[in-house]
Amino acid sequence: MSKPVTIQDLQAMKARGERIASLTAYDYTSAQIVDGAGVPLILVGDSLSMVVLGHDTTLPVTLEEMIHHTRAVVRGTKRALVVADLPFLTYQISAEQALESAGQVMRQTGCRAVKVEGGSDIAPTVRRLVACGIPVLGHIGYTPQSAHLFGRSRVRGREFDGGLQLVRDALAIEASGAFAVVLELVPRQLAAEITRRVSIPTIGIGSGVDCDGEIQVFHDVFGLFNDFCPRHTRRYAELAKQIDDAARRYSADVRAKAFPGVAQTASMDGDVMAQIRACLDRDQMASPSVVGV
Ligand code: KIV
Repeated sequence: MSKPVTIQDLQAMKARGERIASLTAYDYTSAQIVDGAGVPLILVGDSLSMVVLGHDTTLPVTLEEMIHHTRAVVRGTKRALVVADLPFLTYQISAEQALESAGQVMRQTGCRAVKVEGGSDIAPTVRRLVACGIPVLGHIGYTPQSAHLFGRSRVRGREFDGGLQLVRDALAIEASGAFAVVLELVPRQLAAEITRRVSIPTIGIGSGVDCDGEIQVFHDVFGLFNDFCPRHTRRYAELAKQIDDAARRYSADVRAKAFPGVAQTASMDGDVMAQIRACLDRDQMASPSVVGV
């Protein structure tokens, strides 16, 4: 088995021009599958708030819930670098709060990095985390924890001021010591420019092919989540449809007594069963009022 992926391995991939294919995972089974497929970076994204817990946004998910899911993902991962999202308002209040939250996640889960959203504003916090030995993945562009600020216009940086600010944000995140940065819903020309200007890997989502890597949500790419399908995703499987079909066939078989079959059923020696029956019948004749109460 090859060695666990390090942040240096990801940076070497950028240097070699080898793209970093990343996915989210939220539990032991999905982590095993994604890790087994050779994906080098697994994010336990706070998108679990929507795709696993059924909330409308990423805001309600708690640190405890993130820890619970990240522990399962780490147990299912042998090689990939597992990064956990720090949820809404568990790191924005102060650098000390961020350190406390990141420390809790790393100590209790065994993940090897955390992700925080924000640009120049969050850079001092990133610097503090890194100084304490915590690898940080940045996240700029569309930052879902600020969804209510953005409204319906999700693509960030199309205009001069916003575009320039995003490049400055990327540079600030790099300077603060983050090992890589997610670019979400950034126009592809701007994402390409950022990718050229920073030495750390850029991991795009809806930001075009010129980023150093790509990240997608497990439930989106494998067709498990149907509440909405973001434009930036591509379905590589239709698992919800397959499961729906399988669940209908299963129900029909159970109703028709076609399942379980002999292969799925425990059995016993017929003589032993006959002895048990005879014994029960004798007991019943001896004290008819007790047996069968
Ligand atoms: O929470 C998440 O899944 C994310 C990514 C898709 C970047 O932040």
